[in-house]
Amino acid sequence: MNNNEISSNFKLTLFGNPVLHSKSPWIHTRFAAQFSGLNVDYSKTESPLDAFPKTVFAFRDSGGNGANVTVPFKEQAYPLCDEHSERAQIAKAVNTLKFMPDGSIYADNTDGIGFIRDVQHNHDYVLTGKRILLLGAGGATRGLLYPLLQTKPHSVVIANRTLSKAQHVVTEFCQYGSISAKRFKDLKAEFDVMIDCTSFDSWPLPIPKDIFQQCALVYDLKYSDKPTPILERAIHYGVKQCLDGFGMLVEQAAESFTLWTGFQPNTATVLEEYKTR
Ligand code: ATR
Repeated sequence: MNNNEISSNFKLTLFGNPVLHSKSPWIHTRFAAQFSGLNVDYSKTESPLDAFPKTVFAFRDSGGNGANVTVPFKEQAYPLCDEHSERAQIAKAVNTLKFMPDGSIYADNTDGIGFIRDVQHNHDYVLTGKRILLLGAGGATRGLLYPLLQTKPHSVVIANRTLSKAQHVVTEFCQYGSISAKRFKDLKAEFDVMIDCTSFDSWPLPIPKDIFQQCALVYDLKYSDKPTPILERAIHYGVKQCLDGFGMLVEQAAESFTLWTGFQPNTATVLEEYKTR
């Protein structure tokens, strides 16, 4: 048997609510097909909002090897886990669970590294030295912040409907870089990069209309078959790079896949197949 011929079965799932729309099973099935003998059964599990821990433990006890976690459970998943990667510990939000043979749960957060790889590697856009605006202050923002600050941007501003939540995030992350909180209405058109980390899928948010003026990159963590409302607006204002979250989804998935299986999949072929499907 050579290195590419292995024989292993992995039972994996995505926990979220809702999860119906997710492309994660498609992505992980494509990754698994890159390694002969690797069998991945990746399902979607819609957890009741009030029974997330019970849903996770039931999957683990049925022989599950690992899971991804999406909206709205990333922060709730954190205290369920016995051990955390450094980035998950800093984010206090997790998107990847690994069920260990002794029943304990190891947690990681691969969202931030997925975002950085998509922007810097797939789209050749360097974040170092840039003025960055993050919209939202929930689990998605928390997952992104530490890897983002490690790229040494000029500054990061977090704007959120609930200002106190943004301020709280700033208090936790200010030791890692230049970061501040603002109200939507106080924002000015002074950003190179704007990242929408909210779960709000309409537009506009109550932010100044000219906010895109100096932006070279607008990134919506959400993804859809057609441009999301914020990207439609950014395209209208002539922003050079308008990206949705599919690239990040594939990159974070690759990192999770490697944690579970030990194999590093090729993301470029999956991104290409998605574009031409
Ligand atoms: P996630 O884990 O995806 O970040 P979350 O923790 O529920 O999900 O956070 C959702 C984010 O979207 C929050 O920043 C939320 O703002 P609040 O902190 O003020 O709730 C933001 N959000 C959701 N609906 C919104 C809306 N209608 N307008 C503006 N922001 C919204």
